[in-house]
Amino acid sequence: MTTPIISPSILSADFTNLGADIQAVANADWIHVDIMDGHFVPNLSFGADITAAARRATTQPLDVHLMIDNPERWVDNYIKAGADHIIFHVEATDDPVSLARHIRAAGVQAGFSLRPGTPIEPYLPTLEFDLVLIMSVEPGFGGQKFMPDQLDKVRALRHEITTRGLATLIEIDGGISADTIAQAAEAGCDAFVAGSAIFTNGDPAAAVTNLRTLATL
Ligand code: DX5
Ligand code: ZN
Repeated sequence: MTTPIISPSILSADFTNLGADIQAVANADWIHVDIMDGHFVPNLSFGADITAAARRATTQPLDVHLMIDNPERWVDNYIKAGADHIIFHVEATDDPVSLARHIRAAGVQAGFSLRPGTPIEPYLPTLEFDLVLIMSVEPGFGGQKFMPDQLDKVRALRHEITTRGLATLIEIDGGISADTIAQAAEAGCDAFVAGSAIFTNGDPAAAVTNLRTLATL
């Protein structure tokens, strides 16, 4: 098993001190950037300008999660802003494979994400992606309760990836904490997003280290 990847979500950071909060998790592997448009999800966060500001604050890979309608229209803004990964929702596009190819052609890793109610089976044959992000809460807000039933999708994905010898990484997002991360790791996740568990802790770097240890099998 490789070392677990920890991706702190800056949705739970202090937006008045975003650069300092990003630097407080310099020991994390990626920085997770949650983009919400108030349409695809019932909440607004921030957009490409703040993503570009995050880019200036760190050299860590920016793991950009687009919870937006019509991602085809906006994706180039996030490529220009300096995203290293762009993850869009399959529920928001008719042609995930073409969108992934467009993202990869720009030298950016492409991922797709599923809401809790969306089954994984239709997407198993088309794993031409660098990442799959399984939502373990309903997207839209930080600080929600982990949904363990979503781990069935992780197990199905892990089986498919292993059987076909693919390099696709499995990432999980929502309700990941010291209490839930081990079960997600056991189900087969490679990368773990955590917002409130890292940034509402007095010591974000210590929280990253603790989560990584708990996810190491
Ligand atoms: C939810 C976002 C998550 C969120 C996670 O829609 O995609 O990345 O920030 O927050 P926690 O870890 O607090 O559940
Ligand atoms: Zn996210």
